[in-house]
Amino acid sequence: MGKEKKRIKLNTIKQKMNASIKNICCIGAGYVGGPTMAVIADKCLDISVHVVDINQKRIDAWNQSDLNNLPVYEPGLAEIIERTRDRNLFFSTEVNSAISNADMIFISVNTPTKTKGIGAGKASDLRWVEACARQVAKEGRNHTIVVEKSTLPVRTAETIKKILSSANQSSNKSSTFSVLSNPEFLAEGTAINDLENPDRVLIGGDDDSSIKALANVYEHWVSAEKILKTNLWSSELSKLTANAFLAQRITSINSVAAICEATGADVREVSLAIGKDSRIGSKFLNAGPGFGGSCFKKDILNLVYLCRYFGLEEVARYWEMVVTLNTWQQKRISQLTVNNLFGTITGKKIAVLGFAFKANTNDTRDSPAIQIINELLEEGAQLFIHDPKVNEGQIVQDLKRDSSKCLELANSNGGWVYASTIDSAVENADGLLILTEWPEYRELDWENISNLMRPPAWVFDARSVTNPSEIRKFGLNLWRIGDGSNQELI
Ligand code: UDX
Ligand code: ADP
Repeated sequence: MGKEKKRIKLNTIKQKMNASIKNICCIGAGYVGGPTMAVIADKCLDISVHVVDINQKRIDAWNQSDLNNLPVYEPGLAEIIERTRDRNLFFSTEVNSAISNADMIFISVNTPTKTKGIGAGKASDLRWVEACARQVAKEGRNHTIVVEKSTLPVRTAETIKKILSSANQSSNKSSTFSVLSNPEFLAEGTAINDLENPDRVLIGGDDDSSIKALANVYEHWVSAEKILKTNLWSSELSKLTANAFLAQRITSINSVAAICEATGADVREVSLAIGKDSRIGSKFLNAGPGFGGSCFKKDILNLVYLCRYFGLEEVARYWEMVVTLNTWQQKRISQLTVNNLFGTITGKKIAVLGFAFKANTNDTRDSPAIQIINELLEEGAQLFIHDPKVNEGQIVQDLKRDSSKCLELANSNGGWVYASTIDSAVENADGLLILTEWPEYRELDWENISNLMRPPAWVFDARSVTNPSEIRKFGLNLWRIGDGSNQELI
């Protein structure tokens, strides 16, 4: 390229960077892309936001008129979709044209843990991210800011950069790219509030004008002091570290719950007492059936992989233990359920309340319910599974096992059916196991339940949503997570 041509091109790029962002494309219409773009469209009336996905069914579901059945359930999301959709928020499968027209592209595609090959079970599978980068390289026009939004291993931005620049060189295209890391910190179930009132927004990159352009988008509703600017690697590593710390905290309190049960202490009292220390803080101290969700395990495993890659074996083992203990916690719950039901659950009916990995979401990825239920099925239990937001098809997919049309209680092979009401789940049941802290499970009618269950019936509350005296008043036995007063009963 001649000197003059280069100068004109640089000027055009600069002008474009200084101009505010008008057209955003988000690749991936999932749990991150959908809610995040909905909030950006809601807050930035001057920006047109195009969410694209290769999954036609998912896009159709985002475009359907029934707002109660959007592909992602999040409190407050339907209302935002109602006012933004087809105004400045659009969902489509037209990936190429959305890329060509965009000033800024968010990559929000799935990055699950690899299931085979090098790094299987630890490293993230980046094939979707790589495919996206290649598509952006091919279709991008002029200057495009590419923002990595999906949780990614440290130094992925480098890979994206390499793909973008080498594709450019080989096709001799004049388009240019800059890559930013802008990790998402939203938690499912509170995504809209987390997006509208973030603790911080993190932008990592080495190109000041692109960072400024992205900061400008957020400054439509987030104060400038909350927008942290770092280098790319710090941004990527901060996301993994934040999730690793949060997961470690849950594992810590779950391990203390086991000590409470053994010693007669109560984990709720311990949480309250330690949480009053301002250095510790009171959040994320609820003992439960182990953490689930698409991020915690994957991010810790990424960290472990990274540590091993750099020869930090002790550090790798330290973080790995958080995941090992989490699996142990899930196993502990299925085992104590069996132990309390006289050591055998073959042919016994157990109601399972909750399948989502936490309340207020229909997401089941890595839900503790999956492992616990599979272990109970192995033991031959007849499970009646209820969840207010997770449908039967999703459960079939997660358990990799069809529901039984009709459960013969005498049958010794485990089986499960989908219970559309709590009453149908508990009728004649020997056990009731609460795995998700849905608000309605906090208000169960224990008198009615005790009449429906088969005595001597057991309630297993893995989420601390019940009131022990209410339950015991109606003659039910209770095991509650981290409750040492259970010990003489076990
Ligand atoms: C997490 C991070 O919180 C978020 O910042 C990141 O962007 C994505 O990963 P998410 O997985 O959606 O969010 O939910 P989170 O509220 O963190 O809960 C994760 C798991 O931990 C759930 O299974 C939840 O039930 C469990 N948990 C959480 C506990 O068992 N006890 C607690 O005190 C808190
Ligand atoms: P997350 O929780 O990170 O949002 P999801 O699995 O919910 O993850 O969503 C990721 C979405 O990305 C899926 O709907 C998937 O179809 C989409 N996707 C993956 N690869 C591509 C691609 N190359 N182009 C467009 N969409 C993609």
